[in-house]
Amino acid sequence: MSHTLNTEFERQHHYIEIVREKVEQKKKELGRPLYFYSLAMGCQMNAHDSEKLEGMLSEMGYERTEEEKEADFIIYNTCCVRENAELKVYGKLGWLKHYKETKNPNAIIALCGCMMQQETVLATLRQKYRHVDIVFGTFNLYKLPELVATCMETGETVYDIWQEHQEVVEDLPAIRHFPYKASVNIMFGCNNFCSYCIVPYVRGRERSRTPEDILAEVRKLAADGVKEVMLLGQNVNSYGKNLENPVSFAELLRMVNEVEGIERIRFMTSHPKDLSDELIKAMAECDKVCKYLHLPVQSGSDEILKRMNRHYTKESYMELVRKAREAMPGITLSTDIIVGFPGETEEDFQETLDVIRQSRYSTAFTFIYSKRTGTPAATMENQVPEDVVKDRFDRMLDVLNPIVHEVHQEQVGKVMTVFAEETSKQDKSILTGRADNNMLVHFPGTEDLIGQMISVKIIDNKTFYLIGERI
Ligand code: SAH
Ligand code: SF4
Ligand code: F3S
Repeated sequence: MSHTLNTEFERQHHYIEIVREKVEQKKKELGRPLYFYSLAMGCQMNAHDSEKLEGMLSEMGYERTEEEKEADFIIYNTCCVRENAELKVYGKLGWLKHYKETKNPNAIIALCGCMMQQETVLATLRQKYRHVDIVFGTFNLYKLPELVATCMETGETVYDIWQEHQEVVEDLPAIRHFPYKASVNIMFGCNNFCSYCIVPYVRGRERSRTPEDILAEVRKLAADGVKEVMLLGQNVNSYGKNLENPVSFAELLRMVNEVEGIERIRFMTSHPKDLSDELIKAMAECDKVCKYLHLPVQSGSDEILKRMNRHYTKESYMELVRKAREAMPGITLSTDIIVGFPGETEEDFQETLDVIRQSRYSTAFTFIYSKRTGTPAATMENQVPEDVVKDRFDRMLDVLNPIVHEVHQEQVGKVMTVFAEETSKQDKSILTGRADNNMLVHFPGTEDLIGQMISVKIIDNKTFYLIGERI
């Protein structure tokens, strides 16, 4: 850790103390705890960032609540990858205005994350949503304690948005959402500029953490009882290229595979353009690396892929699928697909359906193209009419869902090791967890099994999850 990082870390701890004193005082006045409500929208990056925000809030003296209606501090970690993610935030802000006016005038409302990195959003907030108290972005998450302190001191709205990344502050306190599994950032940002995507604009340029920092974190998690780690990056396959001493993602996987106590390793996301033979080999050879690959295809049409700036073709993608299956028989694959990219024709769409049929995904995350201002695709001609896109989207699910069902059906009768993660929300006598191949399994079991690897025989298929019984 360099000197500057250390100083910044200490600075924030200083602010944590200042805020904690105020929070304690307020608690005494009110004769009750002060609660925070934290909502992470969007992807796993945001979910993981929120774990850090929650860790800091709890050190500041707040207690977590799942009831937004009783919260004294409300923080939304926002997403802007598609328009509906943004609309959801504005909708909730409307509700919060009412909440503050009628229920809790002292509540502090904080917004952070990707959506806040856009000028137009900030302008809208300044104009129409003046009840928001703290606004910050994706590059200065660790400054939360300082921003809260400033807000409490001045009573004014605090805006602090950076245009680029400055330093990575290591060792922030965090509250993990699960005791036995954890996410670990291996890199931040993205350099790919897929023409539809806003992430590079709101998350900045790609930068990798050093293997030393990553391994230190994984070892610490293992010592803390964590058995499964998820290595996170927008494009993990280009991990380590810009480090002082370059390391490949395959090499990193092998290092993490050596950490004692860790039993399972997952990662996301893998960009097809950079998926190397070396990585497939490392996945196959590392016993702890799950035999599951999320490989977003986006479209099956070469023409569309080119205009998406994805740098691969349908054929080269299918070749990767073939190689992965050859090296790891039984591996499951999942993907992301966008329907209705500008200029997409029925023929282009048919190519996407063909990829779905050939790849036989166990899951797919399917999206209707959403125009993002500032991206090259937003100004492309031939935006596809809404009714055409909706029709294609439905037809895609008609092809996809039976395949997902079949792929799950193939598991019935097999015995799998399931990592018991939590009790089912509907039924406390049912545990849910994931098999190595990432399939979700429900099986009867008691809470004391949570955090253990359980042998489960699969007896039924519910398309998006499996039913099993302990053996
Ligand atoms: N870095 C990851 C994806 C991050 S965003 C990758 O490259 O695979 C997650 C998914 O959101 C993308 O894979 C894409 O399918 C979808 N997405 C991104 N921008 C979108 C847009 N403008 N409209 C619709 N879907 C979009
Ligand atoms: Fe977006 Fe493409 Fe980067 Fe993924 S790789 S975050 S889709 S620009
Ligand atoms: Fe993730 Fe959404 Fe940001 S997908 S990186 S939270 S724009």
